[in-house]
Amino acid sequence: MCGIAGYIGPKGADSVLVVALERLKYRGYDSAGLAVLNDGEIHLRRAAGKLKNLAELISAQPLEGHCGIAHTRWATHGAPTEANCHPHVDQGGTVAVVHNGIIENHEHLRRELQAGGVVFQSETDTEVIPQLIGQLYAAGPTKGDALGSLRAAIARLDGSFAFAVLFVDLPNRIFAVRKGSPLLIGMGKTYGADGQIDPVTERVTKHRRREMLLASDVPALLPHATKVCYLDDGQIAELTDQGVNLWTFGGVPVEAQFKVIEMTAEAVTKGSFDSFMAKEIAEQPAVLARLLESRLRGGDLVEPEVGIDLKTVSHVVFLAAGTSWHAAMLGKRFLEQLARIHVEVDISSEYRYRNPVASGNTLVVAISQSGETADTLAGLRLARAKFIPVIGLVNVVTSTIARESNGVLPLLAGPEIGVASTKAYTAQVLALYLFALQVAKAKGLLSSAAEQHAIVSARGLPELVARTLRQAEEAVGEAADIFSSAQATVFLGRGGEHPTALEGALKLKEIAYVHAVGYPAGEFKHGPIALVSPHLPVVCICPHDQMYEKMLSNLQEVRARAGRIISVGLASDQALRDLSDHLFPIESATEELLQPILSILPLQRYAYQVAMRRDCDVDQPRNLAKSVTVE
Ligand code: M6R
Repeated sequence: MCGIAGYIGPKGADSVLVVALERLKYRGYDSAGLAVLNDGEIHLRRAAGKLKNLAELISAQPLEGHCGIAHTRWATHGAPTEANCHPHVDQGGTVAVVHNGIIENHEHLRRELQAGGVVFQSETDTEVIPQLIGQLYAAGPTKGDALGSLRAAIARLDGSFAFAVLFVDLPNRIFAVRKGSPLLIGMGKTYGADGQIDPVTERVTKHRRREMLLASDVPALLPHATKVCYLDDGQIAELTDQGVNLWTFGGVPVEAQFKVIEMTAEAVTKGSFDSFMAKEIAEQPAVLARLLESRLRGGDLVEPEVGIDLKTVSHVVFLAAGTSWHAAMLGKRFLEQLARIHVEVDISSEYRYRNPVASGNTLVVAISQSGETADTLAGLRLARAKFIPVIGLVNVVTSTIARESNGVLPLLAGPEIGVASTKAYTAQVLALYLFALQVAKAKGLLSSAAEQHAIVSARGLPELVARTLRQAEEAVGEAADIFSSAQATVFLGRGGEHPTALEGALKLKEIAYVHAVGYPAGEFKHGPIALVSPHLPVVCICPHDQMYEKMLSNLQEVRARAGRIISVGLASDQALRDLSDHLFPIESATEELLQPILSILPLQRYAYQVAMRRDCDVDQPRNLAKSVTVE
């Protein structure tokens, strides 16, 4: 949570940083601010509320200067007010800090600093960082030594964090620290080469300079940076207009490893869509086709190297949160059915605080779109500490989870910016199906006829997804017109559609703020059926699968109690249509295991349409952030 950015270069730092924050606002968006260094002074602009408030402030009061740091916040300690906005500055006005993460011993440090006469300006845990660094830089053994002050301050901080620091008397210099939260350094063009006009000083110069950037994620480095270096935990970076210097917290120099950035700036814009969520829903046929392209060659399954001998695995534990947890539930079905192995699906925040049993043939699969979810990362580390191998199934292949896993299965879904996970979910489900095939094959349980059937079914999916998205839209819009004012919605599904019910409910809750719950439909009569009334829409997910007849009985039960039924099923299913107030038509998958990929599509669009009618911001729903890097 929270996004950090930094810039040193020929362009105006304020305008570069506002664009960077725009790309990071999925990490938090309740307030934002930036600090620019100019003529030996730190200048701040901060605004509570959405980023547009800061952008308006800056266009009314632009900042001169070519070196700055910026932050978009997801509040943990202290309300999203201007006083609590980052950057925070120490009492002497010497250092400015932006921070992502939590300083767990902040109360103790605050009391200690207050006892020494420091007056705090905010309620944040962050403010102890500049106050501490400011004191260490002003007096004592680290006086005037920026790196020494930073190292001494870090030694006092508990928790997981990434932060960036400007020192008022060090022009063209940003320090950055990483312990647990992601931080990247971007390298841009050189400028001001021999004999050329330096765009900053407007004088002929003999010094080549380099444009340098800092961010919590790659999109915020674009389009200026062409190369990226990922800070590791326990590293300090010093960015200057000549490049970067890296050290461990212990002071040992480290060589920076830069890689070419492959993402383009276009991939992180909305294009012709109203929102990232709408764009990402529409991208699903292409996303699934790309994933299949990487995993199928002609009639064969390509088995990615995961660094683990899959034929020895007899027990799989999936670790995940939110939407990724719903995908994991489908992964369990796939592995049980195809590879006949025992599978557990664990919510990461629960797993990490148990003492899970580690048997010899266990494999943990950490599923995370962002690859940065703090609980899933902690679960991964716990597993590895017990010598359990871990595969990371991630969308962001440069993420911490990817880097700390023994093997990686990439989703190839492209950047997912909307807070509601859509294309990453369907990609996760397909990737888990392909993984289950891979395990089944490794164990000698996949006949070539079964492999061919699976491949043909998977290859047909992108077209079925495209058709389902097209044909469901009208019915979804009509139902949204009627039910957007409903107080609550229930989602029912059985078998593979139980996770679809949970996911449909989560989408509606998180972007439309409608209370929604998903149930396995067989459980409905054990209590929740008491909720049914003429005001309650009940979404029944009812494709032609092995649970179809049972689902029809559920529909009958709802209808008998005058509930309002939205069903998700085949357009040609007259029996279902007759029982329903509305039917969201879907295509039928050739392989039943893959059907949930089609069933979720109208529910993503339904949540979107309801949210639009309720005037909700679908890309930045209240109280949420895309990447949950705190507990
Ligand atoms: O990046 P991750 O997949 O680890 O994120 C897990 C959840 O935070 C995430 O799926 C969340 O539930 C989404 N907002 C759902 O749309």
